[in-house]
Amino acid sequence: MTVDVRVFGTPTNVARAAAALFVRSAVDAINARGRFTVALSGGSAPLPLYRLLGQPPLFNEVGADRWRSIHLFWGDERCVPLSDERSNTSAALNTLGDVATLAQVHVIEVDETPERASELYEEELQATLDGDVIDLVLLGIGSDGHTASLFPGSPALDVKDRAVVAVDAPQHIGPHVPRVTFTLETINGAQRVVFIVIGSSKAEITRQVLDQIDRDEVNPLPAARVRPEGELIWMLDRDAADT
Ligand code: 6PG
Repeated sequence: MTVDVRVFGTPTNVARAAAALFVRSAVDAINARGRFTVALSGGSAPLPLYRLLGQPPLFNEVGADRWRSIHLFWGDERCVPLSDERSNTSAALNTLGDVATLAQVHVIEVDETPERASELYEEELQATLDGDVIDLVLLGIGSDGHTASLFPGSPALDVKDRAVVAVDAPQHIGPHVPRVTFTLETINGAQRVVFIVIGSSKAEITRQVLDQIDRDEVNPLPAARVRPEGELIWMLDRDAADT
């Protein structure tokens, strides 16, 4: 598996590069197939990227017509109300500016039970993709090696017949609330997967995960099981890359 690891001097430069890649992927997909499908990631690392998408010059470069052809999904969500500050959906929508009103926004129904919400989201994802794979999946990594809401040891890691599943509240890491998450089947089917990793607190786990991908480890951490059929890019700031 070839991993394209890109290291940038500052978190701002990571956000700029990731935003430029997002826009290039979107324009290419819309030119080729008339629409772009993307799964946003939760957590704090991608927020500066979302902010850049909602501002000039990138916002204008995409243009209103093309924003309307962009389908925003979430790779995972914490089952909390949208008004809760831990909501991945709200954090992204509040940061994306006018993108949030133009794009086709596919929200996970957190008012339902996690199981029902996962079924509904799977239906919505499959109806939108209509047999295609998702164009771009953005991901982060947790200090335990989780990605999306796929935690070490979770049975969700081995689910092959679902695109989206419900996950019990993790006990070892917060927020301790149930989740809904894409499965590895969905993530690894993507045309392009981009990890965004910021800060020295992620340096050790990033090193372990990248080692495991390289060495084809037998029992890899969840993030090391992301080996898409398409392109795999890890974007790190200097602190996250520094071990
Ligand atoms: C979540 C996530 C999770 C996140 C990582 C990194 O809902 O918790 O989607 O996988 O991306 O934990 O989070 P940070 O960017 O905040 O470090």
